[in-house]
Amino acid sequence: MKFEALERSGLLGAMSDIAREIVLPQGIFYWSGRAKKEAEIDATIGSAQGKTSLFLPKGDDTVRTFYLPSVVERLSALDPEQVVPYAPINGAPKFRAAWRKWIVEKLSEQYEFDQNLISNPITVPGVTAAIAFLSRLFLSPGRTIICHDLKWENYHPILEDSQQLEIATFPLFREGGFDTGSFLSLVGEMLKKQDVTAILNFPNNPTGFMPTIRDAEDMRKGLIEAAEKTGNKIILIFDDAYDGFVYDKDAAGISIFGKFVGAHPRIVPIKCDGASKEFLLYGGRIASITFGFHPSWGDPEQLQKELDNKIGAFIRGSISNCNHGAQIAIAGAIEDGGIAKKERAVIVGILEKRYSALKKALAAADIPGATPLPFNSGFFAFVNVKVEAEKLADHLLKKYKLGIIPHTDAENNINGIRIAFCSVDESLIAETVGRIEAGVKDLS
Ligand SMILES: Cc1ncc(COP(=O)(O)O)c(C=O)c1O
Repeated sequence: MKFEALERSGLLGAMSDIAREIVLPQGIFYWSGRAKKEAEIDATIGSAQGKTSLFLPKGDDTVRTFYLPSVVERLSALDPEQVVPYAPINGAPKFRAAWRKWIVEKLSEQYEFDQNLISNPITVPGVTAAIAFLSRLFLSPGRTIICHDLKWENYHPILEDSQQLEIATFPLFREGGFDTGSFLSLVGEMLKKQDVTAILNFPNNPTGFMPTIRDAEDMRKGLIEAAEKTGNKIILIFDDAYDGFVYDKDAAGISIFGKFVGAHPRIVPIKCDGASKEFLLYGGRIASITFGFHPSWGDPEQLQKELDNKIGAFIRGSISNCNHGAQIAIAGAIEDGGIAKKERAVIVGILEKRYSALKKALAAADIPGATPLPFNSGFFAFVNVKVEAEKLADHLLKKYKLGIIPHTDAENNINGIRIAFCSVDESLIAETVGRIEAGVKDLS
């Protein structure tokens, strides 16, 4: 975007150095905006949706963004006293306790760890904010953060533009699985000089990839070895926005954060997860920052108090506090004998069917020069293509009325398309792949 009006008016010149440079990328909004107008099948939308008959007992053919009835009913039944007053800076105690219970229950199904090492979650307005606050907590401007090459495009505005960090990437994949070796060697190299912070996002956006437990074990072993070699710390930020949306038994069912709790005194695992996707409440703007403590760090209660203060200062100094009513509604749904869990399972089941249909259709398709990347979870799948991804997206919209998101990153040699199967009805998945195949053939 050009800022000619701001420039002519002199306002651009009056802005801070960061503000003069910062630009809200229009890529995804541009393509989803066009898809809304031009597409018959819209696979650009990153929120799960479909006919209400799929998830409501009295539903019909109306297409809605999926939601959990137990949460939405609680929202509309809130007492003004649960909505009107400010929430405490670090979150409503009821929500923090419920979310902690939710995290411990989920992780316990997959991992062995000492529950006392799980901190009290700190409430923030979305996983986006969790990442922003943590980057400010651990990284001064100019520092580098490690991430896989295929990543959520918003990491650039959050980390690079707003916090002036550099992102050092490693390949997400090697031979059809997580590239543990490249991750460990990048961490090991940087760790020689200073503390290292890495952000890992699984299930991944844009690929829909979740590593296996074996991958997590290899990472843990390698990171412990690396941590032993120096006195520096490894901060692991887990972006678990899509936690639990896993459809393949070979993949870890829940965040691999669980593998790192108490792993080593110099490994600091931090879980960022929230209601946006997990409780299908994107507009509620509620998420959490949860630490995995190490027994050698001392009294967990005192650590909690001091972390609450540090992160509380960032919260108070920016957004002040979070949506109160949403915290109460989510906490109520969690506490209500597993109802939210059951309702979630219905949505996960719908997405699993779409996922299976997409796997099958991609395996059967003959798309010249295309490589579907491994996927087993989340909301998306990613296909690398040889034709120019943006040209393909434009062609698919114009000729085949199909919306997908092109994703390119010249630095990392990425040129592909993201298919949001979370928003495409199962009955249209094969057709979606058929249109992609036809579009690529036209341009090849
Ligand atoms: C990988 C990833 N992290 C975080 C978010 C944002 O989560 P929230 O809405 O809770 O800020 C998204 C949303 O698209 C995402 O894809």
